[in-house]
Amino acid sequence: MPAAPPIVRNIPELRAAVARARAGRQRIALVPTMGALHEGHLSLCRIAAKQAQFVVVSIFVNPAQFAPHEDLATYPRDEAGDVAKLTATGAVQLIYTPAPAVMYPAGFATSVVPMAVAQGLETDFRPHFFAGVATVVTKLFTQVMPDIAVFGEKDYQQLQVIKQVVRDLDLPVGIVGGQTLREADGLALSSRNAYLDAGARATAGKLNLIMRSTADAVAKGRDIAQSVRAGNDELRQAGFDVVEYLEVRDAATLTPVTDRKRPMRILAAVRVGKTRLIDNMPV
Ligand code: PAJ
Repeated sequence: MPAAPPIVRNIPELRAAVARARAGRQRIALVPTMGALHEGHLSLCRIAAKQAQFVVVSIFVNPAQFAPHEDLATYPRDEAGDVAKLTATGAVQLIYTPAPAVMYPAGFATSVVPMAVAQGLETDFRPHFFAGVATVVTKLFTQVMPDIAVFGEKDYQQLQVIKQVVRDLDLPVGIVGGQTLREADGLALSSRNAYLDAGARATAGKLNLIMRSTADAVAKGRDIAQSVRAGNDELRQAGFDVVEYLEVRDAATLTPVTDRKRPMRILAAVRVGKTRLIDNMPV
């Protein structure tokens, strides 16, 4: 087992460690996470390590992206487990896990509010989510000042939002996307899968299959609205309690499809019991 990477919890120590790496001419990568790490997160660390010599993983359960009724208090936290997993990858040089008061000291009153690609889909159900994400990710970028940052396609709209924020604010960070890691039945790995009991887990496994068949119908030229309606019905029959959205969108802008020759993406958010699952894939 490699030695555990150092853990820093405040900005001066973070900056000092990154400055030392930079003085050694190392390329810096950042992998932002909220912890409760699984193979999906670890795959992003491995991607980062291929492109940079100094990989920083941040672990911060960001209160700003949870609505009052959401699972901030119960979100799974396991720092020791996370450190062990990150250590075992051998791909991580520094763990940055600030307390909420470090990220949001008393008097904090500024927010990054993304529009366009951030509107619709997730925003229809979590109105303040992307402002919370964009604000904390912008702060992580200015705290760490990495050359690149790696985000998962699992959260496809989030990845597009980050790219837009970086473009709009001229942040000097290259954004790298990583493929979604899945269980054998296709369920995307997620920290929130820990909430699923056996019955809910069986239902959850059908999401990927139904999305794939809906996407395939569209790819074969079938009407989008019709295919999405059929997919919706299948999701309900499969036992999903709520289908928040199932949509085929332009893969770059996430707006409704007007040109079927451009790349398309199918995106969904569903609930099994109290657990919210999201997934997406190319059409
Ligand atoms: P979190 O849900 O912890 O995810 C951290 C990163 O892991 C994100 O980029 C996410 O897309 C990626 N990820 C999650 N599941 C994955 C999977 N199955 N395969 C590959 N990558 C996966 O997303 C967040 O945290 C937060 O919003 C954050 C960006 C850290 C800002 O607070």
